[in-house]
Amino acid sequence: METKSLLKLGIVGCQGIGAHMARLAAANPNILLAACCDVSEANARRLAQALDVQQIYLDYDILLAEASLDAIYIATPHFLHDDMIRKAVRYDLPVLCEKPITESATSAVALVESLKGNTVKVGINYQRRYDPALDALIRVVRQGYLGAFRYARINVPWEREWDYFSSSAWHTSIAKAGGGTLITQASHYLDIVLQALLPDSVAEGFGVTDRLKFQGRIEVEDFSMGILRTTAGRYIELCSSMAAHPQQPVRIEIYGEDGTAIFDDSREGIEWLGVQPPEATAFSVAVDAMAASLEAFRAWVCEGIPYKIPIASALPVLLCIDGLYRSSVNGQFEDIRYPLV
Ligand SMILES: NC(=O)c1ccc[n+]([C@@H]2O[C@H](COP(=O)([O-])OP(=O)(O)OC[C@H]3O[C@@H](n4cnc5c(N)ncnc54)[C@H](O)[C@@H]3O)[C@@H](O)[C@H]2O)c1
Repeated sequence: METKSLLKLGIVGCQGIGAHMARLAAANPNILLAACCDVSEANARRLAQALDVQQIYLDYDILLAEASLDAIYIATPHFLHDDMIRKAVRYDLPVLCEKPITESATSAVALVESLKGNTVKVGINYQRRYDPALDALIRVVRQGYLGAFRYARINVPWEREWDYFSSSAWHTSIAKAGGGTLITQASHYLDIVLQALLPDSVAEGFGVTDRLKFQGRIEVEDFSMGILRTTAGRYIELCSSMAAHPQQPVRIEIYGEDGTAIFDDSREGIEWLGVQPPEATAFSVAVDAMAASLEAFRAWVCEGIPYKIPIASALPVLLCIDGLYRSSVNGQFEDIRYPLV
């Protein structure tokens, strides 16, 4: 990789995806992994030792006050994102925060509103926007090669075992996670479809949620089905699960008046039916979306090259999911509008 401006990065949350991202940061010659921060000393030390990171912090406030960083990456439980982003912005410190923005649409709207006009860069890591196939899907649909958008179907038939919850108990809690499979897993793929159908946007949604596998053990849903209707009267059908056995590939199907696009994450690229967009083969699949998202964030901070998911761009998917959750309680279509309040 070509050497560019160096980003001094701190990692906040050193387990799960934080540890994975730290390894990608360490492999990026344009990033210096300077600090590991976690309330769990074991998690912080394990990661710092593995990657030869010099500074360890067990308190986020002290990291902000003392570590001399160019940016931070936040990979903590959802309910901590709001406060952590606000604090970093007060230090003028650019942030790449894991999805979702926060655990609730209401707090996310308030956060995005409060950051309007602020120049500190805050990005949300919906890294699949940097997957070359999904990036091509978004651009091809938006450029109209499928003809007018009619409807889309998203299926996320994943399988999780109990250790997913026992190793990170916050995942079981509505207050801490905001929800289950919809907010945590389906949101990546719904975000892609919402980008593809722009400038149309979702107006209302009907959803059901349930616990099909972990009944009595978790507050959040492990299964959900939803229908979203756009302002132009088009439809998105969404099914997301942690209860499929065995786990199956994620599929996104987009149906236009002239053709169909199918993404299946067990296959390379996109299958185009009825149309052959000119750029359909013009992307390489040999790109790790997570590494690409991190490098794009670095380029945003260091070189001013726009990042695809500034915080406001991550709001529509959270608003849709919030609408589906409200609908699952009320049993009727719920409005999905921006802003909520
Ligand atoms: N982009 C992706 O593909 C992807 C994949 C998995 C998880 N995630 C997201 O990453 C985030 C973290 O998820 P995870 O599964 O890695 O969680 P996790 O529970 O495995 O790790 C969270 C870490 O945060 C630490 N932590 C908790 N409170 C803290 C505090 N106040 N200060 C510092 N550290 C603290 C915990 O000790 C733990 O080490 C979530 O937002 C999740 O949705 C994203």
